[in-house]
Amino acid sequence: MRQKYVVGNWKLNGSLPGNEALLKAILPEVSPKAGRHLAVCVPAPYLAQVRGLLEGSPVAWGGQDVSRFEKGAYTGDVSGAMLREFGATLAIVGHSERRTLFGDTDAIVAEKVAAARKAGLTPILCVGETLAERERSETEAVLARQLDAVLEKSGAAALDGALLAYEPVWAIGTGKTATSAQAQEAHAFLRARVAKQDAAVAARLPMLYGGSVKGANATELFAMPDVDGGLIGGASLVAEDFLAIWRAAVAAG
Ligand code: PGA
Repeated sequence: MRQKYVVGNWKLNGSLPGNEALLKAILPEVSPKAGRHLAVCVPAPYLAQVRGLLEGSPVAWGGQDVSRFEKGAYTGDVSGAMLREFGATLAIVGHSERRTLFGDTDAIVAEKVAAARKAGLTPILCVGETLAERERSETEAVLARQLDAVLEKSGAAALDGALLAYEPVWAIGTGKTATSAQAQEAHAFLRARVAKQDAAVAARLPMLYGGSVKGANATELFAMPDVDGGLIGGASLVAEDFLAIWRAAVAAG
């Protein structure tokens, strides 16, 4: 049985006092639960603070991106080794905001997945179609292209121990969630595509849904056989909303 994950993606949000208040509100409600994982992916400058607040707790932390380079003249980048030094165990890679606003191509995303693995991080590889692509019935072609870039570079082994997140771009931050059937369909497609290369890796690959997940829709989404948790943006910034999703994951297990 695959494990359930709830991962918060704070994006470009946070402040020292705000982060502390948020995590202090979450922590007392989170007890270690076998087979379930809770994590937050935070802006890099807050890693030290978040480590201080979360170390020894059941909540893990990670970065929101990772450099494809190990070190050198790459102004603004944060390497996988740097994230590891601050105790991060996860890194989001290929989020649609990085792809559309910061020029992360499929090839760059594949390099970032490889860099994360090399540094000992668990990549959360994000894939997803835009509304225009869905309306043109290109959803599967887009998901295949984004996934294949990683499979072609590093093989299915790159996804063994990684997380895959299906995030339809039209559902991110819009309040419009994919229906549980739409999420299941996309997840099943992705799992079958990984299975063509390695059935065992595909079977154990946790697959998260992301896009306007809330306490009110999490239960239905997490009940789908191929939805193994959620990648949560807006609702991860409000303790009560994030905890409601966590409770749904615990109940679904
Ligand atoms: P959202 O963001 O939950 O605010 O829609 C999800 C994400 O972008 O990871």
